[in-house]
Amino acid sequence: MSLDLSSVIRTIPDYPKPGIMFRDVTTLMGHPQAFSQVIGDLMAGYAGRSIDKVAGMEARGFIFGAPVAERLTAGFVPIRKKGKLPHKVASETYQLEYGEDVLEMHLDAVEPGERVLIIDDLIATGGTAEAAIRLLEKAGAEIIAAAFVIDLPELGGADRIRRMGIEVSSLVS
Ligand code: PRP
Ligand code: ADE
Repeated sequence: MSLDLSSVIRTIPDYPKPGIMFRDVTTLMGHPQAFSQVIGDLMAGYAGRSIDKVAGMEARGFIFGAPVAERLTAGFVPIRKKGKLPHKVASETYQLEYGEDVLEMHLDAVEPGERVLIIDDLIATGGTAEAAIRLLEKAGAEIIAAAFVIDLPELGGADRIRRMGIEVSSLVS
């Protein structure tokens, strides 16, 4: 029997700023059946699609992306906040639902033409995902899809990424 994921995601009103309904996935991660279901469902959508690399965005994209990469027999590419990666990087500035930030990726993390699946816990405005896409495109990756545990459709991020011509999926809205 599959679990209703929305029942294991905690909502914190007014975090980190007034007016934001923060969807807290730590409760999902701490629930063994829910965590296993999420990794299995994310992986199942892309099994057999010759994914070379899974790219995950710091920080929560690492937690979901790395186990999916291992189960797809793909490599994992960390897309990190500014200043954390030691080798040559590409950088992209982006707007968040609650601020601005910079994402970076090692220039040699992906070979031109490699087939990449992007994974993150949540898509809101799509700013983070768009920055990740721009970084991967700079490296010459072929982006197969972007998959999220949670979509907040009222913020329009999934449609924004689909308008870029990229397949988007999510497990819960
Ligand atoms: C959150 C979330 C996504 C992003 C989604 O990360 O994990 O990466 O926001 O928002 P967007 O679609 O509007 O760009 P956050 O930047 O809070 O970083 P964290 O995972 O390090 O807390
Ligand atoms: N990232 C951007 N918006 C968010 C939200 N409402 N909850 C959790 N993470 C987020």
